[in-house]
Amino acid sequence: MNILVIGTGYVGTTTALVFAEMGWNVTGLDTDSLKINQLKQGNLHFYEPGLEELLRKHMQSGHLQFTTDKDQAINNNDIIFICVGTPSGPDGNADLSYVQQVAEDIGHASNRYKLIINKSTVPVGTQERVTSWIKSAQIESHPFDVASNPEFLREGKALIDALNPDRIIIGSNHERATHLILTLYQSVNCPVVVTTPRTAELIKYASNAFLATKISYINEMARLCDKLGVHVKDVAEGIGLDPRIGQSFLQAGIGYGGSCFPKDVSALLLTAKANDTELSLLEKVVSVNQTQHLYLLDKVRERLETLAHKKIAVLGLAFKPETDDIREAPASRVIQSLLSEQAYVSVFDPVAPLEPYLLQQPITWSATPEDALQHADAVILCTEWAIYQQIDWVQMKNIMNQPNMFDGRNMLEATLMKSIGFYYQGIGC
Ligand code: UGA
Repeated sequence: MNILVIGTGYVGTTTALVFAEMGWNVTGLDTDSLKINQLKQGNLHFYEPGLEELLRKHMQSGHLQFTTDKDQAINNNDIIFICVGTPSGPDGNADLSYVQQVAEDIGHASNRYKLIINKSTVPVGTQERVTSWIKSAQIESHPFDVASNPEFLREGKALIDALNPDRIIIGSNHERATHLILTLYQSVNCPVVVTTPRTAELIKYASNAFLATKISYINEMARLCDKLGVHVKDVAEGIGLDPRIGQSFLQAGIGYGGSCFPKDVSALLLTAKANDTELSLLEKVVSVNQTQHLYLLDKVRERLETLAHKKIAVLGLAFKPETDDIREAPASRVIQSLLSEQAYVSVFDPVAPLEPYLLQQPITWSATPEDALQHADAVILCTEWAIYQQIDWVQMKNIMNQPNMFDGRNMLEATLMKSIGFYYQGIGC
């Protein structure tokens, strides 16, 4: 079967590569010719472990091609995945303008039966809207089905997750569409849930919102741990051994970020509001997350008395390790707060850049963690890149003005850091 993937961001590129790896013929389509040219040359336009190797493999294997010619691509392919962005609009709702544009393009260029499968994260009811957008853009009437097939991959682990999914969710009202999607995934061994498109769309939001809830739960528990002299890591381990709770997503820190959790939780809250339903627990999840970095900064301020004119080194800019994605990264919130209190800020990240709005600020960009830490009064660890564990912290203590370590990801060994002579504070330990 020939598959067209529209949108070559994280989800689109990974989807295209994984279907090529499964042996299907895949075309990736994007309006951004810069991205498409890079992909054609075997270069990824974002950092994601393992993906570039697979891209080069399938540019050679002949299973994968990229184009900007939407009419031809839609004409030649009968199975079309929509993988375009659904960023937060000004009111916090998911902005569906890219999805609408793609639906209208499909309607306009369709020449025979098409199956359109939506992978973008979209509010409940979008399958129906896509159906009507396609219908109204068709010049001649051609049959088509629209289904929902949400994606659950994580950035930094995109390839592993997409090749070995926990589950496949198919939201489809038509036997023909369901059968085709099952055929696409025939080589994948995992549970499959076939349900309605509305249910599939809600499963995606409910899933991300639940994971965000686990994080805010353990972060709030960490604040209590600090007061009680208890280690939150031990609490997380102890409760996580109960299979009904599970170990994952109980890592306390300076909060969740990224292009998914903040946007999706906010969109779900708006969906609930529009349907006269209160999701009060989720509202609290957001407020805990929004104050979590401030909780760590309180500890820094308490130690240094004032942040004004103190040099603070920030390690890590990405919203999590193994990615260069800085969208909604807690590190940016930390830096902004430090600057607003007249601290001198130096930063280091192995791959991620600074947020554009921070580029004009007086921030020292460092090529190595050592450079960032030189003469610093404190270091705040915002992203748990593995390399921070390999740093010679004994040497770092000597080059810092004051050896104060605030570990926003509870990454380093507290007893080791203290034995070296650091004043060490994590979150909940
Ligand atoms: C998340 C979901 O995990 C994926 O299943 C989903 O497909 C994706 O959103 C999406 O909707 O596209 P992602 O945002 O890539 O994936 O990253 P996560 O690994 O979920 O981490 C999100 C944030 O939570 C990060 O800032 C991370 O540092 C934080 N986090 C995660 C914690 O603070 N504690 C934890 O225990 C786990």
